[in-house]
Amino acid sequence: MMRCDVLTLFPSMVESVLGTSMLSLAQEKGLLDVTVVDIRSFTHDRHRTADDRPYGGGAGMLLKPEPILEAVDSICATCPDVRIVMTSPRGRQFDQAYARNMCEDSRRLVFICGHYEGIDERVRMVMAAEGREVDEVSIGDYVLTGGELAALVMIDASVRLISGVLGDTDSVKEESFSSTLLEYAQYTRPVEFRSARVPDVLLSGHHGAIREWRHRSSLANTYARRPDLLEKKVLAHDDQLILADIQKKESSENLDSSRRLSS
Ligand code: ADE
Repeated sequence: MMRCDVLTLFPSMVESVLGTSMLSLAQEKGLLDVTVVDIRSFTHDRHRTADDRPYGGGAGMLLKPEPILEAVDSICATCPDVRIVMTSPRGRQFDQAYARNMCEDSRRLVFICGHYEGIDERVRMVMAAEGREVDEVSIGDYVLTGGELAALVMIDASVRLISGVLGDTDSVKEESFSSTLLEYAQYTRPVEFRSARVPDVLLSGHHGAIREWRHRSSLANTYARRPDLLEKKVLAHDDQLILADIQKKESSENLDSSRRLSS
């Protein structure tokens, strides 16, 4: 069971995703427990002000510290052992290892979704001074309008690793990044579509040959799309031979197409 709170200025945005598909099913199965907390409900003025202009000038608005810290305090009053995740484009990069680490963490995960230009620095400082574990995490090198989508991406990637969330545990085992190779090409019916056929080997029922074909397809996809993953990996001798063959085929295909262009 993964327990989290999502602190946000836009609860309905988070709730709509949590109420759909696998995330909703995980909650129904009792494998995920999420509470969406409206940061504005911890404001005390008539206008429910949760943001303000940055000292020193500059564009945009910052989230104020008081409502966020009050919201965190109210969670910790009943559950002191929390791990805080602040979404931010300046954070450490989220990846599959982080997703697994979150899913295996028995503590309550508290996501604080930044909005506008960010969050007053004292939110992080105060929580760290109180001895809470605080991570600032980014889901990639781009800037979103807010941290809600980032928090949902992290929750989704972690929840699907909990045993019982996906129907078939093999789908977690074989997929991209767990083995640092990208996934192989997949096909479903029909066998022929717009004159493109499913590779014969996949129709053969020959499990050994299918396994080999899929492994080659994984290597080819990784080489074509994420060669950096192959550079990090120590390849077995057999895989080095397969890769050399993929590279040879690719360079002869390039030669053929340049001949076609020049003829
Ligand atoms: N908020 C805005 N951009 C973000 C990003 N890339 N990751 C996490 N939170 C964000």
